[in-house]
Amino acid sequence: MSFELFDFIPKEADEKLLDAYFDFAETLFKETFPTDPLVPRDLHLKLLTVSKTGETVIRRLAQTRSSGEIIGRLYLKIFTEENTGFKENKHIAEVYISSLKEYSDEDVLLHLLKEAVEEIQKYDYITTADTCGYLEREWKFWEGLGAKLALEGAQNRLFIKDIDCNMLEEWRHQGHKLAEEENVDLCSFEDCPEEIIQEYSTTYTEIMRLVPFGEFDYIPEPTTPFTRRESEDNFRKTGYEWFTLATREKNGEISGLTEILYSKSRPHRVDQELTGVKDKYRGRGLGKWLKAEMTMFIKNKFPEAEFIATGNADMNAPMISINERMGFKRVLTEKCYTIKLDKLEHELL
Ligand SMILES: CC(C)(COP(=O)(O)OP(=O)(O)OC[C@H]1O[C@@H](n2cnc3c(N)ncnc32)[C@H](O)[C@@H]1OP(=O)(O)O)[C@@H](O)C(=O)NCCC(=O)NCCS
Repeated sequence: MSFELFDFIPKEADEKLLDAYFDFAETLFKETFPTDPLVPRDLHLKLLTVSKTGETVIRRLAQTRSSGEIIGRLYLKIFTEENTGFKENKHIAEVYISSLKEYSDEDVLLHLLKEAVEEIQKYDYITTADTCGYLEREWKFWEGLGAKLALEGAQNRLFIKDIDCNMLEEWRHQGHKLAEEENVDLCSFEDCPEEIIQEYSTTYTEIMRLVPFGEFDYIPEPTTPFTRRESEDNFRKTGYEWFTLATREKNGEISGLTEILYSKSRPHRVDQELTGVKDKYRGRGLGKWLKAEMTMFIKNKFPEAEFIATGNADMNAPMISINERMGFKRVLTEKCYTIKLDKLEHELL
């Protein structure tokens, strides 16, 4: 083997290793998003060093013996007992393996995968490996192992210059009409107010569980006041601002929500995260209203933003129907695979 594999612990890595790692990550980033500005390294480092209760993350790198270049990476995520969804999801390990294009023929992915399987075998409750990615050569690798395509989706983007303000104003108008007729309120926040955090967490969990996850045998873990506050802290540490807009019905119930993330270090983009409306409140224009309000907020609040990015499963017809009318365009296809551990072990024999 012309390369060696070793654990990568960003908090402990020296500057030389971090630089080599960022060179690698940026090469992959440029292959995936050729026209996008790179993630600034100081932000990237912060993102690498935050952690979440209930998850163990193992990072391993492949480095050439000759030049010291990083050519491959394993990112392995395992749920631990503190995870709020441990009971439902403990059988899953998330496995992401990548290598530089020019080293595609050198079995880097295979060696990293072997390392992942050896780690996974230490947990007798894991039976399944799940993965997602944007690069065709990675899809081929998983398909070659017999992994099942579990979900296909896309990163979609709405360019601010293409926003149809007249249509969004009409959606807002319809929303305000509904608000008057049926006493629906809009509320917005960054940190979730203490007095609604319990209800909001329960609603968030319910809505997350309405998102289609295709063939994945995964149930989104419950959001709790603790996990919400931990996520708020993590975003603060990395410099991300997290904005939420929610609807509240006459009976006081939170019925829908939409949220975005923005970092001053990446001012060209806004990431649209979860949007959802509880089942029984659908079909009244809440989804369109929330998206229209949030989009106009973005347009006014972040003058440097060039686009809003969001990820959607191809099978999510209602969301795609709204997004397409808003002018969101597919920029990249994402494919997600699932494979049983015993099948993986057999393939690696
Ligand atoms: C997407 C979602 C937020 C829409 O909420 P909603 O309040 O029902 O939305 P609206 O009433 O404003 O609009 C829904 C639109 O989708 C259309 N729609 C619904 N089902 C559709 C389908 N199967 N195919 C095409 N369009 C569809 C409706 O016709 C409606 O448009 P119209 O009012 O112009 O006729 C809701 O379905 C949801 O919460 N889904 C689960 C969560 C999720 O998957 N979120 C996306 C991932 S972040």
